[in-house]
Amino acid sequence: MKKILITGGAGFIGSHVVRRFVNTYPNYQIVNLDKLTYAGNLANLKDVENQPNYRFVKIDIIDAQAINELFAEENFDAVIHLAAESHVDRSIVDPTAFVMTNVIGTVNLLNAAREYWKGAYDQKRFYHVSTDEVYGALGETGMFTETTAYDPHSPYSASKASSDHFVRAYHDTYGMDCVISNCSNNYGSHHFPEKLIPLAINNIKNNKPVPVYGKGENVRDWLWVEDHARAIDVIFHQAKTGETYNIGGHNEWKNIDLIHLLCKIMDKKLGRKEGESAELITFVTDRAGHDLRYAIDSTKLQKELDWVPSLQFEEGLEKTVDWYLANDEWLNNVTSGNYQSYYEKQYKNR
Ligand code: NAD
Ligand code: DAU
Repeated sequence: MKKILITGGAGFIGSHVVRRFVNTYPNYQIVNLDKLTYAGNLANLKDVENQPNYRFVKIDIIDAQAINELFAEENFDAVIHLAAESHVDRSIVDPTAFVMTNVIGTVNLLNAAREYWKGAYDQKRFYHVSTDEVYGALGETGMFTETTAYDPHSPYSASKASSDHFVRAYHDTYGMDCVISNCSNNYGSHHFPEKLIPLAINNIKNNKPVPVYGKGENVRDWLWVEDHARAIDVIFHQAKTGETYNIGGHNEWKNIDLIHLLCKIMDKKLGRKEGESAELITFVTDRAGHDLRYAIDSTKLQKELDWVPSLQFEEGLEKTVDWYLANDEWLNNVTSGNYQSYYEKQYKNR
């Protein structure tokens, strides 16, 4: 039996990772730690919340004492750390929140692991889930590999780069078993509708303008979130200590082309005439410091750990649209703010 602490499990990617681990490994005990910020939604995990191998704890990773108490109470075998402030636009408005959670919060978890795992570092694992944004921006050509120098531009990516450095420092200095993965843009179900794809789906559905920054020329490399969760599973179980893996879909799209594809799918699903949804596209002021292009080379992960993405983008995007259209209640609860009372209703008196 393994006891694993997964942080940020109420968020978009975290909820897919928790679901995968709870369902795939009934002999593991999964503790989901989350502060439930605006991005945390326990309804994302409705389907596993009563499983005997799952437990939720509401803790802020900035609170070192609460983290230490949890480590003292639970004899964790591993941490899979996803909790973070994750939205670039918010980091431009309030960088400090990103330093607090992404840097100080990560260091608090590392310190607890360092203290409570003393004498057993070779039997414990600290897995940090990070982003390709730490590598900065690409021009028209090239790809990020695991040896690309860090060159973050936004306060978000600077905070994630810093947390990656701390994780490596704890491996190198104290001999802790740490691994890191850096992934490209995810898409799929349960994605908070402030990010491009779910925001656009919601706006198209409600006949609202779809904001495209600048000229829509920026390129992102999109990966289906369940493929990311599977990569995390593989890396968690098979990576050698100290290793880093890039995870990506080999699936680059200019924002404007992606939005046109999405509009086409939405026209079909909503029974609109072709081109109707695209009329909602509105070019707006560009994001400050907007990285031009991201592209991930995931050859190392494919060759060493035999992972490949399972889903073609067009199919995945259609699946994602279907999920949002079939889950009005989830979307309405998120946009109205009702989702924030889910914890009080379902968990408070457990
Ligand atoms: P998200 O914003 O959807 O979820 C983040 C979760 O962390 C939320 O549940 C939130 O409540 C929780 N959280 C935030 N601050 C906290 C704190 N102080 N204490 C405890 N919990 C806190 O994010 P996501 O998109 O699911 O990303 C998860 C992780 O994956 C992040 O570390 C992010 O940097 C990384 N990542 C994301 C992407 C992507 O495309 N979304 C790609 C690569 C890497
Ligand atoms: O690359 C991985 C990163 O992907 C993760 O580390 C981040 O946590 C995640 O949020 C995501 O960052 P991006 O900034 O790339 O995602 P976002 O959905 O915010 O934006 C995608 C692209 O679309 C980007 O070029 C900005 C643009 N955009 C975004 C929004 C919200 C628009 O044109 N209009 C919008 O309204």
